[in-house]
Amino acid sequence: MNKLIEELSNRRFIIISGKGGVGKTTFSAALGIKLAALGIKVLVVSLDPAHSLGDAYGIKIGSSVKKLDKNLYALEFNPIQLFAAEKEALIKAIREESSEAPMGIPIDEEAIELLLDAQLPYEFAEGLGFIKLFYHLMTVADYDSIIFDTAPTGHTVELLKLPEILESFYVRLIKFRLKISRVFSKIKKLFGFGYDDRADMALRLLEETKEQITNVRKVLTDESKTEFVVVMIPNEMSILESARLIEQLAIHEIPNSNIIVNFVRIYGGDCPFCVLMSKYHNKQLEKIRKEFGDKKLWVIPYFSEEIRGIKVLKKVSEVIGELDIEKALKMISEGTTIE
Ligand SMILES: Nc1ncnc2c1ncn2[C@@H]1O[C@H](COP(=O)(O)OP(=O)(O)OP(=O)(O)O)[C@@H](O)[C@H]1O
Ligand SMILES: [Mg+2]
Repeated sequence: MNKLIEELSNRRFIIISGKGGVGKTTFSAALGIKLAALGIKVLVVSLDPAHSLGDAYGIKIGSSVKKLDKNLYALEFNPIQLFAAEKEALIKAIREESSEAPMGIPIDEEAIELLLDAQLPYEFAEGLGFIKLFYHLMTVADYDSIIFDTAPTGHTVELLKLPEILESFYVRLIKFRLKISRVFSKIKKLFGFGYDDRADMALRLLEETKEQITNVRKVLTDESKTEFVVVMIPNEMSILESARLIEQLAIHEIPNSNIIVNFVRIYGGDCPFCVLMSKYHNKQLEKIRKEFGDKKLWVIPYFSEEIRGIKVLKKVSEVIGELDIEKALKMISEGTTIE
């Protein structure tokens, strides 16, 4: 087992991120195959609303967990669907609670209809959905490792900021609700009714969600449990965007010590364009080494065949962690060819 695989196989949550089109989905899919082959039970989750994980594996996946191979499972997460199911469960609970109440609290069917019709803004559903999914995966022992294939950088950074933002948002909501409860309780006392805070379902739900967010943040920032892998390609734009992403990760205390440089042309044959490309990549790799010297840098070579389906992805999985940046630079300077 190489160093990268050894490190990643010891993490429960592996988040794969980077600029658009750099190979995040390909890497996530190949890493899933690699870990599963080592006997680790893996779930690969696509968080990109434009799911392409199924395209990479060449298997239709969809929004419920699908078994792809021995130890290998995949899911294309759909937060809107998750909330539709949650909403129905909540309404069912309200109806049941009301019918069981001794005095038979009348339920407001109109309010329930409103709740049914309510649409969450996508970003909110996505953020809270990610937290709910992450929390669920934290609390069940179904998988040894969970790999998240994310949407391009900007989107993912926003998603990762959400636990922090939502935590303070929920704290405020709870305070507000408590204030209302107190006013409510005073009014009830005035008229001789008792008021029990514990029966306040909205408050209970808010507190439960806040607790979940706090726990997700704890695991997300725990380097013994989580690793954020940045994927990039050897060009200027990618270097600049990765530097910004890494800065954001540091601000939000999300552990990141590995970078994958994908699409590197290692070529020493007699195709003039390929030699030129290889030389350019050599120059960029040197820049990457300088810019991200404090990280562990791994190279994935450019593959000349279409990477689709488990069979071809297996070839990619075999090079994960095998080529560190020094070895790749040496191969290029020695004129080695990887096709
Ligand atoms: N090392 C490689 N050699 C050759 N082709 C590659 C390599 N890595 C990825 N590809 C191909 O490049 C394309 C983009 O890869 P992929 O979809 O994995 O990128 P992505 O970062 O997930 O993109 P998006 O930002 O759109 O989600 C795909 O067609 C994939 O097969
Ligand atoms: Mg992708």
